[in-house]
Amino acid sequence: MQTRLLGNSGLEVSAIGLGCMGMSFSYGPPADKQEMISLLRTAVDRGVTFFDTAEVYGPFINEELVGEALSPLRDRVVIATKFGFEADPSGAQRWTSLNSRPDHIKAVAEASLKRLKIDTIDLFYQHRVDPNVPIEEVAGAVKDLIQEGKVKHFGLSEAGAQTIRRAHAVQPVTALQNEYSLWWRRPEAEILPTLEELGIGLVAYSPLGKGFLTGKIDESTTFDSSDFRHQLPRFTPEARKANQAMVDLLGEIGQRKKATPAQIALAWLLAQKPWIVPIPGTTKLHRLDENIKATVVELTADDLREIESAAAKITVQGDRYPEKLEQMTGR
Ligand SMILES: NC(=O)c1ccc[n+]([C@@H]2O[C@H](COP(=O)([O-])OP(=O)(O)OC[C@H]3O[C@@H](n4cnc5c(N)ncnc54)[C@H](OP(=O)(O)O)[C@@H]3O)[C@@H](O)[C@H]2O)c1
Repeated sequence: MQTRLLGNSGLEVSAIGLGCMGMSFSYGPPADKQEMISLLRTAVDRGVTFFDTAEVYGPFINEELVGEALSPLRDRVVIATKFGFEADPSGAQRWTSLNSRPDHIKAVAEASLKRLKIDTIDLFYQHRVDPNVPIEEVAGAVKDLIQEGKVKHFGLSEAGAQTIRRAHAVQPVTALQNEYSLWWRRPEAEILPTLEELGIGLVAYSPLGKGFLTGKIDESTTFDSSDFRHQLPRFTPEARKANQAMVDLLGEIGQRKKATPAQIALAWLLAQKPWIVPIPGTTKLHRLDENIKATVVELTADDLREIESAAAKITVQGDRYPEKLEQMTGR
């Protein structure tokens, strides 16, 4: 497996990481724990070194899963997790509010370290910018954790360009984690140039469009009642029907390159910048293998131009998030 450096930080990770969220959270009931432990360890054997989780995934059970699976392989993996949400005071398993106060960040770090069964979090992201806490205080808290040896690298997720700059001035940011794919290209306008200027890596989440860009979902696909995609305007049957054009494009290019739509979607991301690392999520070994093989699909300048001009003719239908969640991004 090829590796990549996240910006100027020196943090080296496999060119494709593994998003662990869907093993416990978001896309229906949690998958079988023993099977996921085996999948995570097989991923390491396949050369994946970069694993993504968060306190809020589950909550907690995804970090526990990652800890149980990967702590025995600690020296072969880079583990990223996230802070910044707060449990519902009613005790319900819903996470509705943000909390990036320094004391909370430090408490979350301690709890995440225990669940992950490790001594240092390799990459600790703020999951969403908290408008009630100046980013300098957030960066200062993570700086303290780095000085104490509890965290190695600082990250942000879905932060706005000014916030990235302010944070980076206090504690260098290693990576920004944003949604980025052929059907969500907003980061190209302002975020990618900012990251390039500052030497910060981009970790691309939902690089397969939450499964849609693989061609395995169409307008007639039904999701489990607990599946988060029920809430997404981009996943209504009408939107899926309209957005099929993007999958068709990936399929056409894939046929020529002897690759699947998922592999083309990932290869396209890898071709954008050498400091971009996609973290597709899967609960299935054959798909993990398929996704990893995207690193050997070479898109030529002609292929990229063709994708660019065909994609420009497609207007993606439906917002990626409901308004309440979208408002938490780009701040
Ligand atoms: N920072 C943030 O706010 C944020 C937000 C969302 C996600 N994330 C992170 O990013 C990671 C990835 O994003 P994501 O899980 O939302 O979306 P994704 O990686 O774009 O897509 C995952 C979905 O695609 C399916 N899939 C994966 N590979 C496939 C293939 N080769 N063919 C067909 N289907 C395939 C998976 O189903 P199966 O399991 O059935 O294969 C799953 O439903 C997450 O695990 C999480 O760690 C971060």
